[in-house]
Amino acid sequence: MSNDADLLRHVMARECETVNEYLALAERAQSPEVKGLLLHLAYEEKEHIAVCAKELMKVDADHKMWMEKVHAPLDAQGKRLNTAASGDHGPGPNPTQSAAAPTAVSAKPQFTIGSLIR
Ligand SMILES: [Fe+2]
Repeated sequence: MSNDADLLRHVMARECETVNEYLALAERAQSPEVKGLLLHLAYEEKEHIAVCAKELMKVDADHKMWMEKVHAPLDAQGKRLNTAASGDHGPGPNPTQSAAAPTAVSAKPQFTIGSLIR
């Protein structure tokens, strides 16, 4: 890892792993107290992911562009009412035309390391 963006993506990947681990452990917990603690810890890890994602916007222009794009408001038809990010895929290749671009969304939300580390 050579720059802050890489470091932040690495931390986010670890945080995602931790969320999954805490949620899995919470399902196995016998007592409501332990289950509650594990769910609370998972919740806090999600905050860490959000904080890192926000910080990553400052050091990764592509990340910033995508965050702004996916958070743009929707019109009545459900299309993004986009700003400058609309149609602008940043300095790199158009990610939607990449072979690595996702083609389906899992029914069960799941964080993955590979989706966060370049
Ligand atoms: Fe954390």
